[in-house]
Amino acid sequence: MTLKTIQWLDNAVLAIDQTLLPAELVYDRIETIESMWDAIKRLKIRGAPAIGIAGAFGLYLGVRTLPDAAGMDAFSAALLEKAAYLASSRPTAVNLFWALNRLKEKASVLRAAGRSVAQIKEGLLDESIAILEEDRRMCRAIGEYGFALIAGKKTILTHCNAGGLATSEYGTALAPVYVALERGQTIRVFADETRPLLQGARITAFELSRAGIPVTLICDNMAAVVMAQGKIDAVIVGADRIAANGDTANKIGTYGLALAAHAHGVPFHVAAPASTFDLTLASGAGIPIEERDAAEITCGFGKRTAPSGIEVFNPAFDVTPFRYITSFITDQGVIDPPFSNNFQSRFGLA
Ligand code: MRU
Repeated sequence: MTLKTIQWLDNAVLAIDQTLLPAELVYDRIETIESMWDAIKRLKIRGAPAIGIAGAFGLYLGVRTLPDAAGMDAFSAALLEKAAYLASSRPTAVNLFWALNRLKEKASVLRAAGRSVAQIKEGLLDESIAILEEDRRMCRAIGEYGFALIAGKKTILTHCNAGGLATSEYGTALAPVYVALERGQTIRVFADETRPLLQGARITAFELSRAGIPVTLICDNMAAVVMAQGKIDAVIVGADRIAANGDTANKIGTYGLALAAHAHGVPFHVAAPASTFDLTLASGAGIPIEERDAAEITCGFGKRTAPSGIEVFNPAFDVTPFRYITSFITDQGVIDPPFSNNFQSRFGLA
């Protein structure tokens, strides 16, 4: 039913080039850290969990060609340098940093246990595969918990793409809809087209219609109207980074959507795996927000739609304050307010 967004196959990463969707479904074979950096930067691979998986494999690709004979110190230094390089690709989705840290930690543990450079390399590949497999399980769990939350609802609205194509396979915000389909329930999805890069139109609409889920595409500026018309039972979005108080970074436009949902009494849920929570940040004020090229707005998809040289502001994400969020649907259950306390207890920190 779902597409395999990113896989490890024949000693390389095989990933759907999402810049070509929906016109072409093309799989890219990625064999070097440089091409992985480029794939993340250019949004060939995108969506927070998929970026994390890509980062892990990217780091393995970067170190696998280092000569084993160069010694442990040289290997460790190169690992850190290559992790920093990958971390410079996109700043907002914490899953990237989470995955890179996990690989660095794995290397330290193996080194402390006296393993060779060759064995550490092997361990890093195993850890990358484990991250991919875990993501699949986490998304499935989000789907089950989210389904229980929205069972019986007829329509949800989502923004950007937090579906299978943003993860290894199954999605976060869209996972409950896939579970509903499996259980014989049809939930219609209203998909915001998501300016400027149209992840909603190009990717969400593509993957849902391909799976046989009814989808209605709307422009971003129509969301408040469909809520006012009573067409939306709940909003579910994904997340790129969630701070300790529940403030949530997600695709630009999410904040406005949360305000509209609040005004219309529509529940607003954020679906995300544990790897998207950054409890080191007290609030959303500390989340780095990526700003992207002006040409995405003035000359999107090769068509000039604004005068050359015009000043542009193009943040790729915004932060929704926790007070507009009804609940978080995680792989460890649904978390209700008060978020600070409940995150601590749910993630075993209190
Ligand atoms: O710029 P993108 O396409 O990587 O942005 C993606 C989003 O904002 C998603 O909603 C988020 O990463 C969650 S994906 C499960």
